[in-house]
Amino acid sequence: MLVTGNDILVPARAGKYGVGSFNTNNMEITQAIIHTAERLRSPVMVQMSEGAIKYGGQDLANIVIDLARRATVPVALHLDHGSSYASALKAIKMGFTSVMIDASHHDFEGNVKETKRVVEAAHAMGISVESELGRLGGIEEHIVVDEKDAFLTDPEEAVQFIEQTGTDYLAIAIGTSHGAFKGKGRPFIDHARIEKIAGLTGIPLVAHGSSGVPQEIVERFRKAGGEIGDAAGIADEDLQRATGFGIAKVNVDTDLRLASTVGIREALAANAKEFDPRKIFGPAREVMSQVIEHKMRVLGSVGKA
Ligand code: 13P
Repeated sequence: MLVTGNDILVPARAGKYGVGSFNTNNMEITQAIIHTAERLRSPVMVQMSEGAIKYGGQDLANIVIDLARRATVPVALHLDHGSSYASALKAIKMGFTSVMIDASHHDFEGNVKETKRVVEAAHAMGISVESELGRLGGIEEHIVVDEKDAFLTDPEEAVQFIEQTGTDYLAIAIGTSHGAFKGKGRPFIDHARIEKIAGLTGIPLVAHGSSGVPQEIVERFRKAGGEIGDAAGIADEDLQRATGFGIAKVNVDTDLRLASTVGIREALAANAKEFDPRKIFGPAREVMSQVIEHKMRVLGSVGKA
């Protein structure tokens, strides 16, 4: 069933488990996400970035909405990193049930002002809102934040921000970063900060940059001819701890990008004569499903639908 973000995230925060919010860009990714959620009886969020909207538009949104409506588990369609009021409203008009306004590049007052505007409009239409305070390192589509400028969310500011904006859930900077090239080793996750923010606030918290970049997938990627630098995302144990404190929405994009490319590369490497798209994208969907299942088990959302 198609539900709002709040419908999924409020119970997750109360039950101390996390729900994956996976980025989609096509039918196979969407099927992998929603069908795996159904198989495992897990709630799930499917998110489209502005780049995904540019690429797949209403066609892609309709695929998600149709699968979500027919799904036997709760599914929300979320706008990832909405950059403006106009972008958030456009997504709501397209049928999204959850939107993010990312005004985290503004100063505190500017962020509050921009977020509040979106919250008022979205709430009038029954749609829940994510916003962000603090800044993540790494690269995601149009967002390039130099590691030096990345700063972690201040707990006291988070309290003020939630009060002043009425945001439904808040993305906090806790040490994760976007993208596949996450530097050497696992990132340092500031658990004390998560615990403090969670203790001072009641709403669901969001972790961006939550791909774990499974080493088995990275190895298969390389073996099938792919080139990738040092890619170590958040460790499963760190993610589990974070969800225990109050991280309810867990954003994952890179893991699925890698998994789908592994499926495609392996299919083509196994048979140079292959040109049936179903024999190429089908395996990609299969590898993505495995990665999604692993993530749902780590987050503890299995059986919660
Ligand atoms: P990853 O690049 O770690 O998958 O993060 C995606 C994300 O946070 C989307 O908002």
